Amino acid sequence: MGRAVKIRYLGHAAFEIRTEEKIILIDPFLEGNPRACARAEDFEKVDLIFVTHAHADHLGDAVEIAKRTNAKVVCMYDIAQYLSEKFGVETIGMNYGYTRIDGVEVIMVPAWHSSSFEGKMLGNSCGFIIGAEGKRVYHAGDTCVFGDMKLFAELYPIDIALLPIGGHFTMDVKQAIKACELLKPKMVIPMHYNTWPVIRAEPEKLREVEKSGIEVRILEPGEEVEV
Ligand code: NI
Ligand code: MN
Repeated sequence: MGRAVKIRYLGHAAFEIRTEEKIILIDPFLEGNPRACARAEDFEKVDLIFVTHAHADHLGDAVEIAKRTNAKVVCMYDIAQYLSEKFGVETIGMNYGYTRIDGVEVIMVPAWHSSSFEGKMLGNSCGFIIGAEGKRVYHAGDTCVFGDMKLFAELYPIDIALLPIGGHFTMDVKQAIKACELLKPKMVIPMHYNTWPVIRAEPEKLREVEKSGIEVRILEPGEEVEV
C-alpha cells in the first residue's frame, strides 16, 4: 500500500508528483506555456525531473530547475549525455527498461514520437512508469496508442495513467479510450490538449471509459489528486 502520492497538473504535459520523501517533476514546460499554473522559479526543492523527449514543450525548464535545485534529470541516454555536456546538469541517462533511482521504481517505455533539440534529432521519445509508495503512475509522453501498452501494464499494473488527448502530435481522445482499454488504470488524467488551437480537444469525451470502471479526472492546471 504505502502513503499518499499527490499528483498536480501544471499544464500541457507537465506534472508534479509529491511523495513523503520526494518531489518529482515530469516534462516541466512552464515558461512560454500558455496554460502553466506555476513559474520555474516556484520550484525550490526538486529531487528528480523526468523528461520524455527533447522537444521544447517537454524539456521546457528542466535545465534551469535542475541547475538551481540540483535535481537529477532522468531521460533517454542520448539526451542525458547532451544535457550534462552542454549545460552541466546532473543526469541519469537510461534507455527502455527497468531501473530504480533513489528508491523510486522507473520503467522507461517506448513512445511513438520524434525527439529533437535546436533543430537536430536528439535521442528517442519515451514514456515513464514511475512507482513510489506502492503506486504506479504512467506518463505516456507524446505518443499515439500502441498495442504494447497492454504488455507494460501487465508487467507493472498502472494506478494512474496520464494520457495525451490533443491529437495532431499525439493520440486523440478516441485513441486514449483504446489506450485505457489496454492499460486498465484505476484512474486516467488527460493532458497535452488545449494549449494551442492545433491540439484542441474535448476531455469530457474521455468519460466513455467510466463504463469500464476507470475514474476520469479532468484537472485544470494547478489542481491535484491524491492517491
Ligand atoms: Ni513532442
Ligand atoms: Mn509535445
